[in-house]
Amino acid sequence: MFWKKNKKGTWRRRLDQTNGKGLVVVAPMADVTDNAFREILAKYSVPDLSYTEFVSADGLAHPKGKKRLLRDLEYTKFQQKASPIIGQIFSGQPENMKSGAALIQRLGFDGVDINTGCPSRTINKQICGAELIKLEHRELAGQLIQACRAGAPRLDLAVKTRLGWASIDMSWIQFLLEQKLDVLTIHLRTRKEMSKVPAHWELMTEIREMRDKISPGTILLGNGDINTKQEAYDKIAEHGIDGVMIGRGIFKNPLLFDADREPSISERYRLLKEHIELFEANFGPTGRNLKEFGKRIKSFYLMKKFLKVYVNGFDGAKEIRNELMQINDPQALLVRVAQLSDSV
Ligand SMILES: Cc1cc2nc3c(=O)[nH]c(=O)nc-3n(C[C@H](O)[C@H](O)[C@H](O)COP(=O)(O)O)c2cc1C
Repeated sequence: MFWKKNKKGTWRRRLDQTNGKGLVVVAPMADVTDNAFREILAKYSVPDLSYTEFVSADGLAHPKGKKRLLRDLEYTKFQQKASPIIGQIFSGQPENMKSGAALIQRLGFDGVDINTGCPSRTINKQICGAELIKLEHRELAGQLIQACRAGAPRLDLAVKTRLGWASIDMSWIQFLLEQKLDVLTIHLRTRKEMSKVPAHWELMTEIREMRDKISPGTILLGNGDINTKQEAYDKIAEHGIDGVMIGRGIFKNPLLFDADREPSISERYRLLKEHIELFEANFGPTGRNLKEFGKRIKSFYLMKKFLKVYVNGFDGAKEIRNELMQINDPQALLVRVAQLSDSV
């Protein structure tokens, strides 16, 4: 009955453990921060908190979709011991948001986060993600937040969002602060800006002042274009916020959460090998039951996208990467990576 445990205060407790430095957390990223990569992070590059990929609460409300999506909500005890783990969900339907949040609580997560920042048209058409920023959906946004709170009363409630839809919209930020969220994370760009312009860090102090006035109890995190832990601490100090969320920075250095330590070449190969093994154990032809036997859960191509993360930053990396990209069989890739590792 571990899910009955009251986990409220997760972010605050974690923040208190940082001795005033502030939280540096890894961003939720679809097909990146999955169970395999989070295990690598938990072992070698521990963020103060980690998140699942975003998961559709509408999908979770259907038996067929639920079976598939539950895979995206798998995590290990080891990961949770390393740092609290937050389940991120999205929906445009309050009843599904409520049942989705209840499931996140039942599964033993340390917090629940609502995605209101995804710019994908497919998601936005369902009145989900960044679509909720639009003024016309404000009432629904409020209902979704309430539904999430009702579904997971023993968890902190977090929202991750952007600065606006077509332009910067402080009324949206004000509205979210009025919801007395436990945590608010702002990707400092509008939906229209996607990730094409620099994040508007110049607005962070103003937003923090709004937080101080409207909802001083809400933990505030900034997000966008931060590549090192040191940069994150600088932003925290400069704007007086509680933390920073880092996404694509981990593509540049997967070990950044370990005090910005750069991996050596042999370490890069070792990490890659371990990641391939974890990826295959989680998403390869697992044969967990007869029906699924021999079927992959995720394409191996998604793993190969990580080659750029590990085989990078040293002389000849590009040529080796191009060679490895041609290998489509996981076992063959493992053999070649082991050879490369031995030759360093
Ligand atoms: C490949 C990829 C997948 C993403 N998936 C999610 C997601 O599932 N949920 C979410 O809230 N944001 C998602 N994001 C947005 C990131 O969490 C983050 O807000 C964005 O990348 C900006 O931060 P950064 O400049 O540090 O990367 C994704 C971003 C990338 C690059």
